[in-house]
Amino acid sequence: MTELNELYQEVLLDHNRNPRNFKALDNPSGEIEGYNPLCGDKYTVFVRVNDNVIEDIGFEGAGCAISKASASMMTDAVKGKTKEEVDEIYEDVHRMLTNSSNDTDAVAKLGKLAALSGVAAFPMRVKCATLAWHAMRVAMQGENDKISTE
Ligand code: FES
Repeated sequence: MTELNELYQEVLLDHNRNPRNFKALDNPSGEIEGYNPLCGDKYTVFVRVNDNVIEDIGFEGAGCAISKASASMMTDAVKGKTKEEVDEIYEDVHRMLTNSSNDTDAVAKLGKLAALSGVAAFPMRVKCATLAWHAMRVAMQGENDKISTE
């Protein structure tokens, strides 16, 4: 394992053990339950958007280490961002997760989220890494609903 991969693994383990923003919000503007029926993993993502900006975000639920670490990193990455900035981050993350050749410039631009880049080598795990992201994007639009990966 290279030094960089070891560092990425450490980051993922840390977010899995100590997930950031692991909380429900009192007055969310959107709240979406994301569910992966293949494994039963489920997260609810709470978002409060104010003036087009994600003012606060939290998530609750349980799932595999990758899904939890990715949800935690996602909340850190999108808090304080405009919806347009969030869309851009999501597009970059999605490209990173689905492109195993990993364009190093694009990955470097993602900062801490680059720790998820190793998932690209395991296509079966892409849904784990994107579960909470999909829920967040729908919640950001002010929806209160459930979505599924299938
Ligand atoms: Fe269920 Fe990863 S195994 S989301």
